[in-house]
Amino acid sequence: MLIKKRSRIEIPSSEITPKSVYLSRRHFMRGAAAAVAGGLLAACGAPDAEPVADGDGAATTIATGNSAEESYVLDAMPGTVSSNFDERGDPLNSLEEITTYNNYYEFTTDKTRVAPLAKNFPTAPWQVDVGGLVNKPKTFGLEELMAFEQEERIYRMRCVEGWSMVIPWMGFPLSKLLNEVEPTSAAKYVRFETIEDTDNMPGVRSSLFPWPYVEGLRLDEAMNDLAILSTGLYGQPLLPQNGAPIRLVVPWKYGFKSIKSIVKIDLVDTMPESLWMKAAPNEYGFFATVNPNVPHPRWSQATERRIGEFGRRETLLFNGYGDEVAHLYDDPDYDTTQSS
Ligand code: MTE
Repeated sequence: MLIKKRSRIEIPSSEITPKSVYLSRRHFMRGAAAAVAGGLLAACGAPDAEPVADGDGAATTIATGNSAEESYVLDAMPGTVSSNFDERGDPLNSLEEITTYNNYYEFTTDKTRVAPLAKNFPTAPWQVDVGGLVNKPKTFGLEELMAFEQEERIYRMRCVEGWSMVIPWMGFPLSKLLNEVEPTSAAKYVRFETIEDTDNMPGVRSSLFPWPYVEGLRLDEAMNDLAILSTGLYGQPLLPQNGAPIRLVVPWKYGFKSIKSIVKIDLVDTMPESLWMKAAPNEYGFFATVNPNVPHPRWSQATERRIGEFGRRETLLFNGYGDEVAHLYDDPDYDTTQSS
């Protein structure tokens, strides 16, 4: 797929951007989408909406001077995001919220202490070995990973614990990396593994969990356009606490599927056993799609607390991404504990 990189949409994240900008972005994308094959925009693409006027009467289209034939792909630019809202109109969480409230058990189980403990975690040099049932196994260095066209994807993330955030990720579709190694017809699942660095990750010295952190997707899930490998957020490279230098983001599944700091990806023919399936098989299964109708064995999943908000919101089936992913599942109640 040829992607022209002419669009540069710069909105400082410090700027309070009215909803009109978000709406006008939709407008711009409608034209762009026509030119981009394969649903590249599916994550951010949404219902058509006409631009509306700004409060101050300023022009509302995110004017780039580009023609509609140009694709909508953002360069990673320090401190900039394309919109302050996701496609539902929900505001982004702040950079501070996203980088100071984290789950990364290799460091600690205390969300507010991950950032300080991970501060000096070495994320370069880095390699990701991609192999297993593929025709062209390959070890990707950081530069090769960054050479994939980096896109912005604004996604909601719903943690199985009942909190959520809206995060402007940078990254690229996992399918692009998988296509490069050419899975064989025997490949049915993708298995991911996090680095197990006992020197720099205090948590992995404890035998509390069966390290390394492992996660998996069915191959068709992995090939869905919403599944990305993320290298940054808010237009900046990922910080260690968010899974630098490269992590998975699967927005229709509970956050624990979005494995951080990946060093190994294998195409396999049997369902991988994840860390959580090993650690608590009665609570966590393979699919872990967000489903408000299926409670966790110990709490309801019907509602969630958006970090930064008071009160709770209703949780949406597939985290609101059903249009893009429901067709992958025969049973809409694929849930936290279902494993086959
Ligand atoms: N990946 C690894 N390697 N280790 C972890 O502990 N936690 C998961 C997921 N990926 C985790 C991980 C969980 S439970 C969540 S909710 C998300 O990362 C949190 O991502 P964030 O800290 O970037 O918000």
